[in-house]
Amino acid sequence: MGNLSEEYPRKGSRSLFFKKSEWNMEIRRINDNEKGLKSWIKELTGKPADLLVPTAKFQHAYFGAFMDGKMIGFSVVLTSGKWILDALFVHPDHRGKGIAGKLTEVRIDFAKQNGAREIWYCCSDRNTASLLSHKGYKFAKVKKAAPEEAPEPSHWHKMDIT
Ligand SMILES: CC(C)(COP(=O)(O)OP(=O)(O)OC[C@H]1O[C@@H](n2cnc3c(N)ncnc32)[C@H](O)[C@@H]1OP(=O)(O)O)[C@@H](O)C(=O)NCCC(=O)NCCS
Repeated sequence: MGNLSEEYPRKGSRSLFFKKSEWNMEIRRINDNEKGLKSWIKELTGKPADLLVPTAKFQHAYFGAFMDGKMIGFSVVLTSGKWILDALFVHPDHRGKGIAGKLTEVRIDFAKQNGAREIWYCCSDRNTASLLSHKGYKFAKVKKAAPEEAPEPSHWHKMDIT
């Protein structure tokens, strides 16, 4: 697999802008050492850099969702032999506004642009919000996650790119 494209969604641009009646949002490809990234993750999860460690050994792309210059959401897509959507977080103050759905849209688009033939994500069977944020896509629930992959009952979901 070659290097992931540095310019997404197009040459010279790493940003996408989304607008709804109640918000304006930028989703931007962010660097591993982006200022504020680690502190934002720590504030949200209470686990310093935990989200970044498993990702870092694979080729990956982090995306941040920003409103009024502040990061309010974060997600990752990585390639570990297969393409995986991972680590999706939205700040509690901004949940239910469709932000996770947009972060998922962007990651799927990025994976497709980089040649993905199938895309996977693993999710707790109880995480309705996360499952719903993927529902616009043709994901199929394909196999149970092993206990070492997920602490609570979870499944892997797969989408074929046609
Ligand atoms: C999961 C998470 C990322 C969802 O973020 P979000 O921005 O609120 O999600 P969206 O607004 O895009 O919502 C997606 C769908 O779920 C629905 N939804 C959101 N929260 C919900 C809830 N608590 N219960 C039921 N449905 C919910 C929304 O209405 C939306 O459905 P719609 O498209 O039909 O309107 C967010 O709740 C979060 O950060 N949770 C903690 C971390 C986590 O669980 N990450 C996922 C790991 S797999």
